[in-house]
Amino acid sequence: MSKPVKERKSRPVNLDLQTISFPITAIASILHRVAGVITFVAVGILLWLLSISLSSPVGFMEASDIVNGFFVKFILWGILTALSYHIVGGIRHLLMDLGHFEELDTGAMSAKVAFGVTAVLSLLAGVWVW
Ligand code: HEM
Repeated sequence: MSKPVKERKSRPVNLDLQTISFPITAIASILHRVAGVITFVAVGILLWLLSISLSSPVGFMEASDIVNGFFVKFILWGILTALSYHIVGGIRHLLMDLGHFEELDTGAMSAKVAFGVTAVLSLLAGVWVW
């Protein structure tokens, strides 16, 4: 039998996002998915650039001009950062599949290491792009 309407309405509801804090392992997991989607979209952008650059010598110059703009460089840096995190987070996932870092404390520690390694790779990507 269904519960009275009054009781259902008094159930705890929390839509104040500022009071919800996610554990670092959850943030690492969500970001890994986001980075995977960005990487997927990036494959299309990078193949498009590659096809322009391989079309002819003029096309190559055109592609060089495109990647010389600040905005495009920023996008490329973002793509490389997302790819870095996806690979580092992916390796972390694969290690967890092998039975490592599965406890709450070790999982949180490996998430922090993944963020740290990604920050270094992101910095190197910035140096490479600019
Ligand atoms: C073109 C390259 C790639 C694309 C577009 C891509 C994209 C994705 C996407 C969209 C997901 C699904 C995420 C989810 O459902 O949570 C995923 C999962 C995954 N990716 Fe990639 N990925 C790429 C390369 C890699 C590489 C190089 C690794 C190596 C470490 C990797 C490791 C993983 C792992 C382990 C998962 C599963 C994570 C889980 O169990 O939640 N991926 N990838």
